[in-house]
Amino acid sequence: MKFKPLIIGNWKLNLFREEAFNLIEFIVKNTPASFKGDIAVAPVMVLLQSIAEKVHGSRIQVSAQNIFHMQNGAYTGESSVRHIKELGVSMAIVGHSERKQYFGETLQHVCLKIKACLLEQVVPVVCIGEKKIESAEIVLNKQLDYILTTISDAQFHNIIIAYEPIWAIGKKVKIDISRTEKIFKLLRKKIGNNTRLLYGGSVTPKNAKDLAQILNINGFLVGSASLSPSMFIEIIKAYL
Ligand code: PGA
Repeated sequence: MKFKPLIIGNWKLNLFREEAFNLIEFIVKNTPASFKGDIAVAPVMVLLQSIAEKVHGSRIQVSAQNIFHMQNGAYTGESSVRHIKELGVSMAIVGHSERKQYFGETLQHVCLKIKACLLEQVVPVVCIGEKKIESAEIVLNKQLDYILTTISDAQFHNIIIAYEPIWAIGKKVKIDISRTEKIFKLLRKKIGNNTRLLYGGSVTPKNAKDLAQILNINGFLVGSASLSPSMFIEIIKAYL
């Protein structure tokens, strides 16, 4: 299947209200009309609604950075998929490595969150990736085997997988293009042809063009470079 590219800006715990508004206004205005793919931004939870209002009528979608798997109940401090959907959010990042590192998220949590998203027709952007000392092949196989048991064949086109080598996240490392190409070949073989595959970790305007050439990469999950208006637009242009 030929996928439209998807570029997601993961703003993490950055950008206060006015800064976020300035950035989204810039993106809405400056996304080249010739870009035929999808774009999404993932602001902090408390700005989801206002950012969704700002992008209303544009081609930009809004993603949550995280959600809780239960719909409601005595879970102080959490927000469910239904809550974010009511705000106009269409995607949710699930199982980002920072959630695993700082908030103890496990593969079990990830699976519950995927199910919760699918139930509400919110697209889960499921993050997978290995640590520096681990074998990518072994870890990715293990993570995918676990995750894939929770998804029926019919649901594969409703999820997105983001491969983010943990050692490349927020580190501005030099990306080995041929290694990345090999890994995406393996991922595509394992996951089939119905699911979009994104790359994340140290994506910049410099490496975006080379990454965009890789057949099995269908877009990017961008962290730090998505906070720079010009860099984010340059990364989108890698798919022109
Ligand atoms: P980075 O982050 O682009 O800053 O490496 C990517 C991510 O965490 O999704």
